[in-house]
Amino acid sequence: MAEPDETTPDVPADLMDRVVNLCKRRGFVFPSAEIYGGFRSTYDYGPIGVLMLRNVKDAWWRTMVQLRTDVVGIDASILSPPAVWEASGHLKNFTDPLVDCTACKQRFREDHLEDPNVCPNCGKRDSFTEARNFNLMFKTHAGPVESSAAVAYLRPETAQGMFINFANVLNTSRKRPPFGIAQVGKSFRNEITPGNFVFRTREFEQMELEFFVPPDQGSYWYDYWCKARLDWYVDHGIARDRLRLRPHDADELSHYSAGTSDVEFMFPWGWGELEGIANRTDYDLTQHAQHSGADLSYFDQETNSRYVPHVIEPAAGATRSMMAFLIAAYDEEEVRGETRTVLRLHHRIAPYKIAVLPLSKKQPLTDLAREILGELQPTWMCDYDETQAIGRRYRRQDEIGTPYCVTIDFETVDDRAVTVRERDSMAQERVPIAELTGYLGARLR
Ligand code: GAP
Repeated sequence: MAEPDETTPDVPADLMDRVVNLCKRRGFVFPSAEIYGGFRSTYDYGPIGVLMLRNVKDAWWRTMVQLRTDVVGIDASILSPPAVWEASGHLKNFTDPLVDCTACKQRFREDHLEDPNVCPNCGKRDSFTEARNFNLMFKTHAGPVESSAAVAYLRPETAQGMFINFANVLNTSRKRPPFGIAQVGKSFRNEITPGNFVFRTREFEQMELEFFVPPDQGSYWYDYWCKARLDWYVDHGIARDRLRLRPHDADELSHYSAGTSDVEFMFPWGWGELEGIANRTDYDLTQHAQHSGADLSYFDQETNSRYVPHVIEPAAGATRSMMAFLIAAYDEEEVRGETRTVLRLHHRIAPYKIAVLPLSKKQPLTDLAREILGELQPTWMCDYDETQAIGRRYRRQDEIGTPYCVTIDFETVDDRAVTVRERDSMAQERVPIAELTGYLGARLR
């Protein structure tokens, strides 16, 4: 397995501000309930952001489910009864140590304090209360009566949905270990210190795989997934020197883990986790079998033996990954005396793949442009823009990372060809309309 790479590439100090600014200005991410003053580190994904977030999740699903024969997907419920979280250990253990400053009344995570004796808000020394464990799960009530019998929890991770459906999937999918169950969806944690834009929020999206293996193959598959998951970020455009794989120290490991490594990204404030890959052993299936009474073992007919599969779990954040993709792709360069802002996103992650731009708002160009748009739209997410000078329209597309612009000009009417401009090099090529779908298809695979 790869050793952690300790080189820390240079990142401009105000990169975060520039990215957050771009997100607001171009409709990637808005603070939630902004017209009411915002709502505690929650965010809404705008017209461009919703496309990009969807692409991050689709790229993950493509790699983890579509291109494999040993992984199937599910979409489990977000609401679940306390029994699930009792068995998983979340009711007891999913806590952060919380301290209050008696001087300024601010609340902090004890394990995030730089100096455990000094309040980072008011500077007072020895002003903290004793730490108390604060459970991060959001609790609610299912149905009209707020009794203890109606208590339900919003899931704090998607993982448990896979464990409690293990037997259902095994019985219906004709898979046998080693095989995996994948899920993408919202999770909720009542984080004490959310922050750094969408890095840590109370509502976020996860992309998790639970990969069930014969017990003697746990270590092989752990190494396999550590490498595969690091490669996924590189394959989707993040430079290798801005990523590292960091194995957890023994004292960091969860009680059930036989090994955990984090894929970390060099955020503007330092290395931060994008994904954890854990060897969870047989802990989860054993816990759920014991608490539910269900048989969650597997009978292997080839070896005539029964075992509880071990689980290797690559657990990634979709919203957090989207932020890393944005930061990694953000670039500014001088072009003819002007600053060009460009998101050098991998085409699979880019919100729009193609922008269709008639040179003028006049006929017959707009009809032709609409015709070309109609050819491309069934296959790719396309933007269409017919206002402003063409140079400004190219810059707008650069800023949101659109890999190709297709320009329809007056010559198009005669030669039935368009100009295709590539985002990163700004190189332009004349392509016959009849060959356009094939030309773009070869580049947007
Ligand atoms: N099932 C294991 C699990 O949930 P985790 O490390 O707690 O593991 C996995 O979460 C990933 O989910 C993290 O690496 C991170 O990308 C994302 N994540 C966790 N908490 C988050 C939060 N509050 N806001 C945004 N993303 C979060």
